[in-house]
Amino acid sequence: MIRFIKEYSLFDISGKDYTYIMKVNDCGYLQGVYYGAKLAGDYHFLMEQSNVKSPKLGDINMDMAFDTMPSECGFYLHGDFREPTIIIERKDGGKVSRFKYLEHSIVNGATTPKGLPHVRIGKQTLMICLYDEFSNVKLHLYYTCFDNSNALVRWTEIVNEGETAYLKRAYSFCLDLPKNEYNLLNLYGNYNHERMVEEKPLGHGITKIQSLRGKASHQTNPFLAILNKDTNEDFGECYGFQLMYSGSFSLSCEVGQNEDCRVQGGIADLGFSWKLENGEKFHTPQAVLVYSKNGLGDMSITFADFYKDYVILPQFVKAKRPLVINNWEATYFDFNTEKLKQIVDDAVELGIDTFVLDDGWFGVRNDDTSGLGDWFVNESKLQGGLKAITDYCKEKGVSFGLWFEPEMISENSELFRIHPEFAICKKGVEPCRGRNQLVLDFTNPKIVNHIFDLLDAIISKYNIKYIKWDMNRDVTEGYSQYLDSDSQGEFYHRYTLGVYSLAEKLTSKHPDLFIESCSGGGARFDGGMLYYAPQSWTSDNTDGRERVFIQWGTSMCYPVSAISCHVSECPNHQNFRITPFKTRGHIASLGPTGYELDLSKLTEDEKSMVKKQISNYKNVADLVLEGDFVRLKNPFKSEEFAAMLVSKNKEKAYVVYECLKNNFFDGERRLRLKHLNEDCEYYIHEYGQFVSGRTLMNYGVKIPRLEDFETFSLFIERRNKNEN
Ligand code: DGJ
Repeated sequence: MIRFIKEYSLFDISGKDYTYIMKVNDCGYLQGVYYGAKLAGDYHFLMEQSNVKSPKLGDINMDMAFDTMPSECGFYLHGDFREPTIIIERKDGGKVSRFKYLEHSIVNGATTPKGLPHVRIGKQTLMICLYDEFSNVKLHLYYTCFDNSNALVRWTEIVNEGETAYLKRAYSFCLDLPKNEYNLLNLYGNYNHERMVEEKPLGHGITKIQSLRGKASHQTNPFLAILNKDTNEDFGECYGFQLMYSGSFSLSCEVGQNEDCRVQGGIADLGFSWKLENGEKFHTPQAVLVYSKNGLGDMSITFADFYKDYVILPQFVKAKRPLVINNWEATYFDFNTEKLKQIVDDAVELGIDTFVLDDGWFGVRNDDTSGLGDWFVNESKLQGGLKAITDYCKEKGVSFGLWFEPEMISENSELFRIHPEFAICKKGVEPCRGRNQLVLDFTNPKIVNHIFDLLDAIISKYNIKYIKWDMNRDVTEGYSQYLDSDSQGEFYHRYTLGVYSLAEKLTSKHPDLFIESCSGGGARFDGGMLYYAPQSWTSDNTDGRERVFIQWGTSMCYPVSAISCHVSECPNHQNFRITPFKTRGHIASLGPTGYELDLSKLTEDEKSMVKKQISNYKNVADLVLEGDFVRLKNPFKSEEFAAMLVSKNKEKAYVVYECLKNNFFDGERRLRLKHLNEDCEYYIHEYGQFVSGRTLMNYGVKIPRLEDFETFSLFIERRNKNEN
């Protein structure tokens, strides 16, 4: 519910459990007042008590007071010495800004930035228009709230009503939190270790989290949380900030002279410059803000629900996910039609329902040095072409999925021979190669259309319902031959808009096309891609030990229904570790599951385990799609991992525990469950026993003695003894 309280020139945005208050101060500037647990009006009291002093009109020091004014959009070069939110450079080189309130409106529903992922619905949106007193630039700050949610979405439209100007920074949001001792939680990593969790005290000065790689990246993620010092998984206040954006980004926290904290972010500003002619508008990506008064666990559930309710393509939110066999780790580039048919046969025998043909089916591609961009079937490798495989899948009752890497081009490819200018390149500069490949210049709509036509032809011809969209390198050079010299600062954002326009074209032409996004593992696991692709390949690392860290970190701000998980071979292909088959199955069952190994090499024992895993997975598949993911034992802080999936109505739950390092001297240990109903009785299938929710959550269940990397799982359903 959004309200404007005229008497105090105050805006009150109240969601499920939070209130966000701003006011237009006596001098006409928009000032933050409060963001936290839900309040009940008391505006007069708030105004009296607030230690936020409006700069006084006529006060000679007024402009310097901007330095401490909690702002919704930081000014530049005019008395606010904290990092600005928007920088506008005019023709004469001046960049000074001071944004004053002009008007506002409250509308039902959500507003939509052009060409960018966005919330599909919302309850109400507040638009506050600020104008820069020194140029003719207006800002429209948007705030969208939702029914029964603790998420708030913000973004900004910048309108140039004056002479040509250049945006040098155009962040999506800014928020000044009051003095406190805060901790910062963010997700860092590298290839094979995406989204590791780091929590540390937020020190003075600026802490910046950013990617300059043209994508969210393995190394970081467009998310951070600000926690009260003693907030943990279950208790305490925290604020999550996330960009629904897949390109280079910045998120920063600035602890200032008064121990207050400015959090803001958006498109990475380093090298960014966007030309705005008179009358032109610029739209920032949307940012999602989540307030939780019950610890990180609650914050994560809010993010997960937010994506399911408002962002992910509605036709896929509750639709049964494909149970996949992917041939990548089974064959790499070395396959032919017979080999693939064999994989399909093995999959059918085990109850797998979808075959995904990975890299190597197109152009001339027998290793990673050639073929990207040639999106036509390599018939000398695949005798009978794709038709032979798709027909065979149909005959066997298995769905078919296909791998693409649409943004890339190999120098050894037909596409490059005909159109070398399609690759990102700056004359006189040797391009950076990553995995032997170059990146297509997606700032150029002609190139995006060309790739769309190629993909569309294959998807339509074979009636493909599933694609894996990979992206295996970072974007370098940051230069487009398509853009003129004073628009080169637009390169990275335009590249991302190009990716979105291809995704938009594909999903609108093929509404039943299920996309799994991927980026050399999980380097583009972000809210932007989730808008088009309901599922994302989490990491190439499917090792039964390291996966738990990756899935734990990813669950901080993404739904498990998007966290694609495969059971793979041992020794693991990435780190050579050996973990039990059962463990790999258990960990993979905490997300949409698949298999990625040579099924023909499985022993009879392993085959029967796969059958068991699949039937177990079918029991919990609805929890993966619709349940809450609840973190129980933190592998970053202990030698154990445990998590559970619980249905919203608390009728059904699934627990997975892994021992990461056994300790011979450990005494009796218990695992206390969460999110059950204290007053209900539950049946634990593995024990064949009835136990109350109260006991399961307070006493817990015994953790058996396990070897390193051994797991156990429990399937729990609400049932009364006498119902049996
Ligand atoms: C990287 C992906 O993460 C893998 O799953 C696989 O698709 C390869 N690319 C193929 O090149």
